[in-house]
Parts: sequence; C-alpha cells; structure tokens
Amino acid sequence: MTGSRIVAGNWKMHKTAAETSEFFDAFLAKAADLPSSVEIVVAPPFTSIPLSAKRLKGTRVRLGAQNMHWELEGAFTGEISAPMLREFGVTHVIIGHSERRKYFNETDETVHLKVLTALQQGLVPIVAVGETLEQRLGGETDDRVVTQTRAAFEGVAPETLARVVIAYEPIWAIGTGENCPAMEADRVMGVIRGSLEGLDETPILYGGSMNLENVASYAAQPNVNGGLIGGASLDPDAFAQLIRSAVRRSE
Ligand code: PGA
Repeated sequence: MTGSRIVAGNWKMHKTAAETSEFFDAFLAKAADLPSSVEIVVAPPFTSIPLSAKRLKGTRVRLGAQNMHWELEGAFTGEISAPMLREFGVTHVIIGHSERRKYFNETDETVHLKVLTALQQGLVPIVAVGETLEQRLGGETDDRVVTQTRAAFEGVAPETLARVVIAYEPIWAIGTGENCPAMEADRVMGVIRGSLEGLDETPILYGGSMNLENVASYAAQPNVNGGLIGGASLDPDAFAQLIRSAVRRSE
C-alpha cells in the first residue's frame, strides 16, 4: 500500500495542560509545512483533551485519546466514554495498548467491546497488538498477533475494516530503545494483514522505539503505513522531523 500514511503520537502519562500548550506553540508552527500525505494524530492525556481540541481546531492535526470505556455512560468510576471524547472532536482512540493490557487488566475481550463501541460511535480505533519477549523467543509471535487481531475485530464486517487502524507493537520494543528490525516488523505486519478478510487497505503502524534514526527503514517497507510513537512524540521538533521522515523516498 502506498500514499496513505499515519503518524500518531501516544503521549502516555506525560504533559500537564500547560506543557501541552507549550508543545502546540512549537509544533503547530511547523505542522503546515509537513508532508500532506501524512495524517497526523496526537493522543494526549484526557486532562489535556479540552485544551488540545481548542488548539487543533482548524488545523490538519487530528485529536486522539489513549483509552475509553465500552459503555456510553454508567457507574464506572474513573472511566471516560466515547461521547465524552466526541464532544471535544476526538477522532481516534488507541485501544488495547500493551501497557493497558499489562497494568490495567485489558483483555482481548474488553478490546473487542471497545472496538465495537468506537466504530458505532464513529471513532477510529487504533488497535495495538504485539508479543512479549517470552512469546517471541518461544516462536509464538505470529499466533499471538493473529489471535489478538481476530479477537479485536470479531464480527466486524470486512468493508468496515478499511476504517480501522492497527498498530503492531512488539512489547519488548516499547520504550526500551530496542526496536524490532524493520524487515521483521514488516513480516509480522504482513501476517496481521493476512489474518482477516478486509485488512488489505487497513493502515498498519509500527510502534516500539521508533525514532529519527530508524524511521526511514520502516517507511521503506511495503506493509508499514506509519508509526505509533511514544517517547519521540513528546518533543515538537523530533515529532515533526519524524513525520517528515515517515514518507517513503519515492513518494
Ligand atoms: P515508544 O512507545 O515509542 O516510547 O517505544 C510506543 C508506544 O508505546 O506506543
């Protein structure tokens, strides 16, 4: 797949509202000059969403959330619903990030429920899948990502799958500085693409220690449609540079 590119910044639990404002002061000054073939998404913490919505209005940068509940409202202390996000113009929501799976009991089942709600509410789910180091060493990588992908999109019509985004994030590569070699990432992403009917046109992003040094090697791969960036998305200059480098040289 060529042309379509998405680079999404996952800020995790970083930046107060004041720091978010400083980020946009610097980043939005550059955003207009970035390649128009790349869709840019920023996913700040919930507390920075109202401010981000104001700052991003009328810009090309889309607003994402890092999580949401599958119910639309109810007695779920500490949770945030899809309508609450939509009210602020959120367009994308990261679902099933490995940190949510590991620290907050996110399961394939809750990922599935959240995907269905996101789609029903008109939000683009960015579904994260990936294996642990133990699973990789045990030769279970392909099984793991296929199981996660099929579970996430169970019952979703093949034509709807063009509207979702998948992020392949090997867990051992997240925040460790040890990225998965681009050709191997591309291979696994091909396995993900082949795991369900309807994923041919689905953007699949790589995530896990993607940075300025390695982004071009991913951009050159046929199955890679962009990146889900943690650490390197926190700095406005680095993030802008990374977006620039996410475009394949021939494009
Ligand atoms: P990283 O995080 O770029 O800091 O490795 C990626 C992610 O967790 O989405």
